[in-house]
Amino acid sequence: MCDGWEITTIEGISDIVPKRLAKYNGSQCGFCSPGQVMNMHALLEQNEGNVSMKQVEDAYDDVICRCTGYRPILDAMKSFAQDSPDLKKTTTVDIEELGKTYCHKTGKRCHGECHPRKGQQLQIVGSDAVWYRPDTFDELFKILADNSGKKTRMVFGNTGQGIYNQELDMAGFDVLVDIRGIQGLYSVNFDPTVVLGAGLSITQLIDIFTRTQSTPSFGYLANIKEMLMRVAGRSVRSMASWAGNLMLKHLHPEFQSDVYVSLEAANVKLIIANSAGSNTIPISQFLKTDMTNKVIVAMEVPAMTDDYIVRLYKVAQRAENSHSFVNAGVRMKVDTNNKFLVMEKPCIVFSGISKDFIHAVQTETYLAGKSLVDPSVIQGALTTLASEVNPDPNIDAVEPSVAYRKNVAIGYLYSYILDVVGDTAKGIYRSGSTPLIRPLSSGQQSYDTKPLEWPLTEPMIKLEAIDQTTGRADYINDIPIEQGTLYAAFVISTVGNAKLQSMDPSKALSMPGVLKFITAKDIPGQNNCFSSIASEIPSVPEE
Ligand SMILES: Cc1cc2nc3c(=O)[nH]c(=O)nc-3n(C[C@H](O)[C@H](O)[C@H](O)COP(=O)(O)OP(=O)(O)OC[C@H]3O[C@@H](n4cnc5c(N)ncnc54)[C@H](O)[C@@H]3O)c2cc1C
Ligand code: FES
Repeated sequence: MCDGWEITTIEGISDIVPKRLAKYNGSQCGFCSPGQVMNMHALLEQNEGNVSMKQVEDAYDDVICRCTGYRPILDAMKSFAQDSPDLKKTTTVDIEELGKTYCHKTGKRCHGECHPRKGQQLQIVGSDAVWYRPDTFDELFKILADNSGKKTRMVFGNTGQGIYNQELDMAGFDVLVDIRGIQGLYSVNFDPTVVLGAGLSITQLIDIFTRTQSTPSFGYLANIKEMLMRVAGRSVRSMASWAGNLMLKHLHPEFQSDVYVSLEAANVKLIIANSAGSNTIPISQFLKTDMTNKVIVAMEVPAMTDDYIVRLYKVAQRAENSHSFVNAGVRMKVDTNNKFLVMEKPCIVFSGISKDFIHAVQTETYLAGKSLVDPSVIQGALTTLASEVNPDPNIDAVEPSVAYRKNVAIGYLYSYILDVVGDTAKGIYRSGSTPLIRPLSSGQQSYDTKPLEWPLTEPMIKLEAIDQTTGRADYINDIPIEQGTLYAAFVISTVGNAKLQSMDPSKALSMPGVLKFITAKDIPGQNNCFSSIASEIPSVPEE
């Protein structure tokens, strides 16, 4: 899978980010620190050192720290941002310096001279399956044809297995085809139409939409981008292709795909190929298209005049890293100068209702040609939607109730209409369309320090910080296991708040390799969790 890749680990980067994290006291146990550092290193490298505080905060939506707390970590990373008040206090990051990585062969600075192998198909025969990695579509279709009749699966980022873990489990396939080597999947063209390859990750799509949203006729991409930023977390988005997401929706139409509703609302066309050639279809036909031995090659993103108003909606447990309970995409062509008339049949698309309910077809038909400022039309649209939205109670065991999902779906349309009509709606209703936007987080730490008594109370970087943030700190798992090392495991009571009457370890002791059963009687001195503090908590129970 990694053949031809260049993999950068924390050992291969400069110490600019590690030092900054240490300086801001952003590591407590340090276990997560290399992950925090590499995340920032990648963000700076991708953006050539030019990031905003918001970008930093968005990039930290899934890098978990269980002990330090996020304030010092985010403070450290935001100090690299161009809009950070701390930027002047710290030295500006030198992207040249940051980008220098070290060669794993020579240990010296990498000058990018050895290029990864290209243009060679790979085949690896494993014990359970054969892996292929084609470089061209022709090679892919030949592999699929040669293996017809076998259980075959294409693999891109393989994040889909995190959702449908049994169905997409690699162990269930005879042939696995890693399609990431196919260069034709990565096209990014803007002339004459916008064509984006199926191999682009969701993160790359967000970047492209961010750059394109200010181009006339592509302003609507700003809303699509905001929705895509709520898909999973940054690490999944960076691995996951948008096409893989659509294929999950194709396999499971009940899947609450945020990507699908976004691209439906954007009215993209999909370029799909098989050995016979390629075909371009509107995304609205995709779920009904037979995808056997076919590959999504790219999408065509349309230009839209300003009278098309596109909005996306998602309600989930959290802002990121959480599946939608119900999501929606709405696109209407509205004449804002003439009673907000809906000029053509709109697109109102949902996920999370049921596997068969994708478009609110009756509501779409009802609204065509009607005025969105007519209260009877609004009432009629909401009533029509209520009659056709019938959430499946069995869609997913963890989903909220049918009544909740139905109300959320109706609320989306109401919110959309309020948003479109803007000031025309009465003041008391307008807040119904205001999105809740979380501002940048910030925090402060204050502590007493008496400079006259320094070094007592003097703030300083803790001694082990730089070892932790450079990944040099050793943890138990890093210590090599010596020959003859003994392992210990706690035997835990199965009953809480009980008195111990007797223990019989004979069964365990009769097992090969078990040497000793240690009880409170074996502890010399005080049987106490805290060596120096008088405590009533024994290390192991005596009774
Ligand atoms: C933790 C987690 C959280 C997630 N959260 C969200 C979320 O909030 N919202 C949301 O919408 N999604 C979410 N997802 C889904 C995620 O977006 C998809 O798993 C991802 O986009 C799939 O892309 P992939 O490249 O990893 O595909 P893979 O897993 O490699 O493939 C998935 C399927 O697509 C097929 N396939 C891949 N590429 C192509 C192609 N070009 N042509 C034809 N078939 C292809 C594969 O054969 C396979 O059947 C989440 C996933 C995870 C793991
Ligand atoms: S887990 Fe982040 S420092 Fe301990």
